[in-house]
Formats: sequence, C-alpha cells, structure tokens
Amino acid sequence: MKSNRRPELIIVADEQALAETAARRLLARVTHPNARAAVCLTGGSSPEGLYRLLAQEPCRSALPWDRVHWFMGDDRFVPADDALSNMGMARRAFLDRVDVNPANIHPIATDAAGPEAAAELYDAELKRFYGADRLQAPRPLFDLVLMGLGSDGHTASLFPRAPALHENARWAVGVATAGLAPFVPRVTLTFPVLASTHEMLFLVDGRDKRDVLARVLAGDDLPAGQARSDGDLVWLVDRAAAPEDGHAT
Ligand code: 6PG
Repeated sequence: MKSNRRPELIIVADEQALAETAARRLLARVTHPNARAAVCLTGGSSPEGLYRLLAQEPCRSALPWDRVHWFMGDDRFVPADDALSNMGMARRAFLDRVDVNPANIHPIATDAAGPEAAAELYDAELKRFYGADRLQAPRPLFDLVLMGLGSDGHTASLFPRAPALHENARWAVGVATAGLAPFVPRVTLTFPVLASTHEMLFLVDGRDKRDVLARVLAGDDLPAGQARSDGDLVWLVDRAAAPEDGHAT
C-alpha cells in the first residue's frame, strides 16, 4: 500500500461536477468482480449530491448493490428518523430509493444506551465485518472512505483539541460534546480505522470552506489535516472552495 503519500488535489467546476466525479470514483472502487466492497459514508451537506446520483441512472444500474456494504464514519446521537441523523440523510438520499439488502447497511446504533455504548457496538460490528480485531495495512477494511471538512477543521466527528484525535486502540468512540453545531453528542470512527481504506476521498464545496481548506492544505494543525490513508488520499473540491491559484480540471 502507498501509505501516507502526498494527498492529491482535484478541483472541479461546481457542486454538480463534484458529485459526478465522486460517483465515478466510488464506482471504480466497488465494482471489482466477485468481491464484497465496503464504503464508509460521511454526513453533512457536501455528499448529498453524490448520494442522490447513486440512486439515479447510470449509477443505479452500474452499482453491484448486493455486494456493497455501507458504513458511516460518524453520526449524531439522535433517533434514526431525526433530520440531523447522518444515516437518515443517506437513506433518504439514496439507500431508501434502491433495492438494497438491509443487511448491507451498517448504521451506528443511536438507540443504544449512550454514545459510548453505541461506539462499542459499532467497534464490534466493524471487527466482525473485517474478520479480525487488528487492522493490517495490506488488507484495508474499506474500499472507499468519504470525508467532509468542517469550518473549524474537523472531519468525521473529530474536533480540534478533542481526545478522540489521539485514540489509537478503539475503532469508534463516543463524543459527548460536539465542537460545532449541531451540538448533539456524536459517535465517530477514529483515525486509524478511517485510514484503513484503498481510498480516502474528501468532498469539499462552497466559498465558506475556502479559508479552512487553505489552512489544511498548508499543513496547519487541524483534525482534517491529520487524516491519513493506507491507500490514496484525495481532496475533491469545487472551484468556490479551492485555493485562489487553483484551476478546475
Ligand atoms: C457531521 C459530519 C461532519 C461533516 C462536516 C462537513 O456529522 O457533521 O460528518 O464531519 O462532514 O462538518 O459538513 P458539510 O458538508 O455540511 O459542510
């Protein structure tokens, strides 16, 4: 694996191009013949266009739905049907619109006793799926991990200065206090688990992300800049969010 390589920056024209490019990359990662694939989804608004595309042609017919498993990199600790739920958003945008085996959808159990209990359950579920308690870089857990970028530099629910940033043992942890709205408790995967992927793909759009993205790309000490991938690490951004000197591909 090409661990900790320099990240690739791909700049596209707008939100639509971002969704289309992400959909092409997702398809390329999950359509290997006869093998099970695992995608780790992200919340927030940036992936919504991608999610909607997945339920539409041509993606709908091209995706091997029976072989793809869908996980969530972080979720808000709210009921599954709450408007703030990340998995709820993914379901409304695409998972409820296609014929997918419910066993292929792996939500964080936000009906557990609390965020820590939900994190423990998810930790166990991920290990069961992986078939081992320890990750091995040559055999990543995920085929694709989607990530977002918050205006404070957080990614998943890994907020600046949070102890979860340094968690190396547990695969998922509860986050009692979010660093940014919505201020509800969260459950998040930890960096080593998110890194266990053939590709980590950040999706960033909009003018309001430009400053924080520039800081991350310049190497400022922000959670999103701490993210590593055992495989490729790609920042897919639209022109509005891109550095001033960036050119769309
Ligand atoms: C969450 C997310 C979070 C998100 C970023 C970017 O649950 O809040 O998973 O990490 O990806 O905050 O969100 P936007 O795409 O809405 O800007």
